Amino acid sequence: MSVTERDLLIIVTVFILSISLFLIPCDAFRHKPKIDTIYQFGDSLSDTGNLIHEKPTGADLPIAHYPYGETFFRKPTGRSCDGRLIIDYFAQALGLPLLNPYLVKSDFKHGVNFAVSGATALNTSFLSNRGISQLYTNSSLEVQLEWFKTRLQSRAKKRLDRALFIVGAIGGNDYSFATIANKTAKETMELVPLVIQKHKEIIGKLIDLGATRVVVPGDLPSGCSPSFLTSGVTNDTSAYDEYGCLISGNKFSAYHSGLLQRALAELRTTYPHAVILYADLYTTFLNLIKNADNLGFGKENMLKACCGTGGAYNFDFPRLCGTVGLPVHVCPNPDMRVSWDGIHLTQKAYSLMAESLIRDLFPKLM
Ligand SMILES: *[C@@H]1O[C@H](CO)[C@@H](O)[C@H](O)[C@H]1NC(C)=O
Ligand SMILES: *[C@@H]1O[C@H](CO)[C@@H](O)[C@H](O)[C@H]1NC(C)=O
Ligand SMILES: *[C@@H]1O[C@H](CO)[C@@H](O)[C@H](O)[C@H]1NC(C)=O
Ligand SMILES: *[C@@H]1O[C@H](CO)[C@@H](O)[C@H](O)[C@H]1NC(C)=O
Repeated sequence: MSVTERDLLIIVTVFILSISLFLIPCDAFRHKPKIDTIYQFGDSLSDTGNLIHEKPTGADLPIAHYPYGETFFRKPTGRSCDGRLIIDYFAQALGLPLLNPYLVKSDFKHGVNFAVSGATALNTSFLSNRGISQLYTNSSLEVQLEWFKTRLQSRAKKRLDRALFIVGAIGGNDYSFATIANKTAKETMELVPLVIQKHKEIIGKLIDLGATRVVVPGDLPSGCSPSFLTSGVTNDTSAYDEYGCLISGNKFSAYHSGLLQRALAELRTTYPHAVILYADLYTTFLNLIKNADNLGFGKENMLKACCGTGGAYNFDFPRLCGTVGLPVHVCPNPDMRVSWDGIHLTQKAYSLMAESLIRDLFPKLM
């Protein structure tokens, strides 16, 4: 190698080194987390403690009592689960602390959870005009949006470009309360487009306020839930699918989720600058059932609640899990069940679903 060649090599090396030194701070900046805040709206699939802090009855509800929380928090937190929910796994995957519930005024530096168990997508006045009464809370999606606006005003920095918004799942209570109010299947079905319209309206308002990343979960297949299986039990074997789920319930959930996806496509056209993603709870849940064996779920108890009182699906309304005064019936290993209390899922089920959703959605958010 000639001197000039070596000199050239040194010059080039020094040049490359200085460029990389120059790039380090830049690069570090680029890898700063793009999401540092989460705002969650919804119902008991995502509530981390709001409903049990609503007066006057929240603290008396079953979810405020043992064995809720037994697996992870070792005490009831207001989550409708034995442990963590999908939103908890999302926060952890982003390196953020678990989201604090809005009604427990505390640290909201990394976001707020506005979800309330029992909340409906449609508002109180609208539902009560149709003879449907709210059973647990009046904190519908619109109320949760107002809470968010209040929260936004009290923030010094109002930019939302590092915030992730999760709107839902919500709507399941609108349908359940309609059924409890003896509405016909047709009347309940007619609520679906209204529930989806409400999603659209709220998401639009959030984007107008500055949201740029929105994840919107659809419905779980309700025909596989012990509560639905119990109320809809029939001797007609053709009413069930190969996994033992009621086809009518799953069809209903698929209808909701299909209309929701169509609404999201419309929103993407209206707001091309925003990332609006559909979170497919329906398929993700069915994958748990299909792969039960590999995932460690007990196949014979696949559709049975872990915590509950009797019946073919270990679910008996109103003898719900956590009801004060009833003996506690809880399965020895919740990790082997998909359903925790007949309505909500176990931590194990949520963790597996979250894993799959994170793999699917997070790359599109960064
Ligand atoms: C309730 O919802 C209905 C239907 O979406 C809407 O027209 C009405 O303005 C809402 N009422 C309140 C008080 O927000
Ligand atoms: C909802 O609001 C109505 C009217 O203000 C009130 O009578 C009812 O008690 C509230 N329900 C709940 C569960 O807070
Ligand atoms: C619904 O129907 C059942 C049985 O007929 C009745 O016991 C119940 O009171 C009704 N519920 C409402 C909210 O009307
Ligand atoms: C199913 O069939 C059994 C025996 O024929 C009957 O006793 C029972 O009431 C039926 N159940 C339903 C939900 O139709």
